[in-house]
Amino acid sequence: MSVQSPDSFAARLLGWYDRAARDLPWRIPPRGRTAPDPYRVWLAEIMLQQTTVAAVAGYFQRFALRWPTVADLAAAEDADVMAAWAGLGYYARARNLLACARAVVRDHGGRFPDTEAALRALPGIGDYTAAAVAAIAFGRPAVVVDANIERVMARHALIETPLPAAKKEIRAALAPLVPADRPGDFAQALMDLGATICTPRAPACAICPVMADCRARGRADIERLPVKPPKKAKPRRHGIAHWIEREGRLWLVRRPAKGMLGGMRALPGGAWEDRPPDEAGIARVDHSFTHFDLTLILVRRKTPDSATEGEWWPLSALDAAGLPTLYRKLIEKKREIQG
Ligand code: ADE
Repeated sequence: MSVQSPDSFAARLLGWYDRAARDLPWRIPPRGRTAPDPYRVWLAEIMLQQTTVAAVAGYFQRFALRWPTVADLAAAEDADVMAAWAGLGYYARARNLLACARAVVRDHGGRFPDTEAALRALPGIGDYTAAAVAAIAFGRPAVVVDANIERVMARHALIETPLPAAKKEIRAALAPLVPADRPGDFAQALMDLGATICTPRAPACAICPVMADCRARGRADIERLPVKPPKKAKPRRHGIAHWIEREGRLWLVRRPAKGMLGGMRALPGGAWEDRPPDEAGIARVDHSFTHFDLTLILVRRKTPDSATEGEWWPLSALDAAGLPTLYRKLIEKKREIQG
């Protein structure tokens, strides 16, 4: 943190942000007169973990409308929150979201704590989110580093160490640039710079507000930065989902709370295995998770497994079931094939 001269990195970046900030639903515009609502800042940052701004915007607005305060969210039914999250992916985030809202109500009187350390102690809040919320909601001069900021700093400071080892150098390069005033706008300005100018491909260096001292400027290989670790090959797994239909209703189950798609409504089916099943399906979908790819086939069954709990869901209201994308894609495939 430092006091900034008029031509400092922060001053140039914030000057650009004042003109060019993206208008996003969770944001207070630069130099806005209202204080940010920590609940909305936190909600957005949890949703934005591993997910793009474009994908999050609609979800954020639906959540904020339906559960306008942390107390409203804390009092929500688990099943309603999981269903509202359906399609955003990484469902452990939704379970932690609820756990965090309840902890804020139970342990902090319904107010988010205002330091990085206290925020990090809450469920689902790691280093990144604690720093982002501390800076954006509470004006703390935290060092916020997401993937966009990593790219901007790896280029600006010409850090050629591959990720993830480069993270330490990136933080060290960024820390002295964080301004004492407007640290939240500063973090979001870096995010916007990474999203709109210092893009992975074909960065628009000519219009960059911090190009004057960018050490990667003019290099033909700027797109190589930050240097990524070699990609690991993903294993493929295989599964069967069952289509059990009766009188216009479909048999749905809930996945176990722990594990992949935990707590989400789902089509019934067996465990996901390393080898393809012997059966042929009526539809098939390929889906990519972080650590493996999955091929899921759809097989008709007459009756549910008597040991499993589930519910007969009206086919006419299937969109409201809150099924994860994997099952939505499979059902869509079946519709394409069978009408
Ligand atoms: N990505 C993560 N947090 C963000 C924010 N506050 N604004 C824009 N993009 C983001």
